[in-house]
Amino acid sequence: MKAKTIGTAHLSDKTVLVRVDFNVPIMRGKIEDDFKIQASLELIKFLISKRAKIVLMTHLGWPKSGGAADRRKFSVKIIASHLAKLLDKRVLFLNQPVGSAKLQTAITKLKNGQVALLENIRFYPGETTNSLEFAKQLAGLADVYINNAFASCHRQHTSVSAIKKYLPSFAGPLLVAEVTNLRRVLKPKRPLIAIMGGVKVETKIAVLKNLLKKANHVLIGGALANNFLAAHRFNVGKSIVTKSGIALARRLPRKKLVWPLDLVVTTKDGRTAWRHLKEIKRGETIIDIGPETMKLFGNYIKRANTLVWNGPMGRYEDERARYGTLFVARAVASRSSGKAFGVVGGGETIDALKLTKMEDDIDWISTGGGATLAYLSGEKLPGLVGLIK
Ligand code: 3PG
Repeated sequence: MKAKTIGTAHLSDKTVLVRVDFNVPIMRGKIEDDFKIQASLELIKFLISKRAKIVLMTHLGWPKSGGAADRRKFSVKIIASHLAKLLDKRVLFLNQPVGSAKLQTAITKLKNGQVALLENIRFYPGETTNSLEFAKQLAGLADVYINNAFASCHRQHTSVSAIKKYLPSFAGPLLVAEVTNLRRVLKPKRPLIAIMGGVKVETKIAVLKNLLKKANHVLIGGALANNFLAAHRFNVGKSIVTKSGIALARRLPRKKLVWPLDLVVTTKDGRTAWRHLKEIKRGETIIDIGPETMKLFGNYIKRANTLVWNGPMGRYEDERARYGTLFVARAVASRSSGKAFGVVGGGETIDALKLTKMEDDIDWISTGGGATLAYLSGEKLPGLVGLIK
């Protein structure tokens, strides 16, 4: 792997524009999980120590109207305050519009080692169209550009893509770490076991196709598995499936796929019950994998030398339906850290992993959702182009 890193570049007095991904969950004005913010602290502290003037930019959610309510809901001001606490240092929140003289002046006034955060970069229509005009405006704010937003690298958006045309551009340490670790999944020490779950089969199909080429076995659970079961004519009752999901599942080669032997369902009268795969009745809904499946999956996991896991095995947010997901989390964590190289990705998967308090045992927890899936699918990510080969 070849990466254009900042290395020993002379940064004192330089204004450095850093694309971070601080797209974090916020509920009632509170940041619920700051994992992605923490993941960029190393770079920010490094730039402070180099006495650079640091201008951070991130997106938050998908603001639509650009109206006042939208602007309040998706403002990143709260993130600036949170970051200030984490750094124990003032973080200037710059809500002056990109392209305005006011913003230019505020940035010119930054002192060496100061940190500032621009308002949500998706408030500008030019961001999501990868506009060259917007890229020039952003580039005009700084001397150097660093991309540390791996989780946004699958987007063909200005702040990760077009901007690179107009500034000397570098890959941040998080980009390098993500690519290094995810490459170990694509060039694995065998056996490679992939565990895939979650709901949206459409978002997983490309990664499944690629992993079916690379992995020794792919274990599937969650609503993803329902589509495969339905595609192979098992009755899945009222469980979540989609027509396109079933059609896609039908087209995937069956050879390396391992699917559930037994499941936990909710019955018509709302009870939970255990069922063998062939015993699911009309009106029942699959909510988790069953104990025989856990044993089966566990046997694959404990023989793996490389593990990658994305997507829960059921409705893990419901206490009655989280045994399978927690089992997989514990099995992957126990086999990782020394025995196998273990990678986990995806918001819900990380959430579930945290319930086991075993996240420190995982070798790499990816900050990416869609970006991680795209990378593991073998796609070329626009944000990495020119920075990492
Ligand atoms: C993510 O949460 O996966 C990244 O921040 C990308 O967000 P997006 O799907 O809104 O582009």
